[in-house]
Amino acid sequence: MSRIKKIGVLTSGGDAPGMNAAIRAVVRTAIYNKLEVVGVKQGYEGLIHGDFQNMESHDVSNIIQRGGTILCSARSEEFRGAEGRKKAHDQMVAAKIDALIVIGGDGTFSGARIFTQEYDIPVVGIPGTIDNDLYGTDYTIGYDTALNTVIEAVDKIRDTASAHNRLFFIEVMGRDAGFLALRSGIAAGAEAILIPERQTHLKDLERYLAKGYTAHKTSGIVIVAEGDKSGGAYTIASEIGKKHPEYDIRVSVLGHMQRGGSPSAFDRVTASTLGVAAVDALLDDQKSIMVGIVNGEVSQVSFNKTIKNRKKVKESLLTINDILSI
Ligand code: F6P
Repeated sequence: MSRIKKIGVLTSGGDAPGMNAAIRAVVRTAIYNKLEVVGVKQGYEGLIHGDFQNMESHDVSNIIQRGGTILCSARSEEFRGAEGRKKAHDQMVAAKIDALIVIGGDGTFSGARIFTQEYDIPVVGIPGTIDNDLYGTDYTIGYDTALNTVIEAVDKIRDTASAHNRLFFIEVMGRDAGFLALRSGIAAGAEAILIPERQTHLKDLERYLAKGYTAHKTSGIVIVAEGDKSGGAYTIASEIGKKHPEYDIRVSVLGHMQRGGSPSAFDRVTASTLGVAAVDALLDDQKSIMVGIVNGEVSQVSFNKTIKNRKKVKESLLTINDILSI
């Protein structure tokens, strides 16, 4: 019999579509298992300040389809310090919260890992970030929706690019990882994709573009991951522009629109699956792990492992990119 009676749930770091579906799943699974559940507002900030809200089943009605997070999110500086974490622990003790479920990315899990080392509080993580950059899960909640948002935007840009015979450099998010850029670039048929995991030299990019243009292409799309070593879409566009005045170049930085919108069916199902798995893991006395999806099945990985290891982009996608971006 688990000693856990009351759990807290929070969302932290950059929001991602599907976080609400995960909150809904956590709340309803907790209630199903006769546990009390409180929502913590604004991530670890709310934990430090005791910003708690008792959650009932109806509190999570009508949210599965909504982007953002009803609990709000933050990147808490104070929780990075021992003092902040002590305040958070005191608030949890006062509110009789026995365990936590944190939905977020690696910053969220780094905080959770230290917290579980310092205090005897079980914490389970659910991967929620559009970047998909977490080791130990094939997908993070929000990634699929963001991908679809990106390709919808790129398809629209392509219409105007071909109408004006222009070459567009489109910058997509992903922090220091290229998952979003690589997959969206392939899905949108980009002429070239620049990602941090594989350096593309200016000369190679010039060669790809020249090939396309001699093959009678009059417009083109280059997807640039924000973390790419070339310095971002504006920098690379200006370098190409200086050497090739024959191209009519424009730059588009997609920005935070990539984080918004109603989650895709895939993200809703992943979020629902992982919300249930996270509560189950707590009831199974897990303490410091992230639940994820590997080869279609629910997996568990320690916070230690997911933080220390870097997830690799799929080799097969890199090969496809190499073939198609000639
Ligand atoms: O981690 C999600 C993410 O959207 C990254 O892709 C991006 O680099 C970062 O967050 C932006 O953070 P902020 O919203 O704080 O500017």
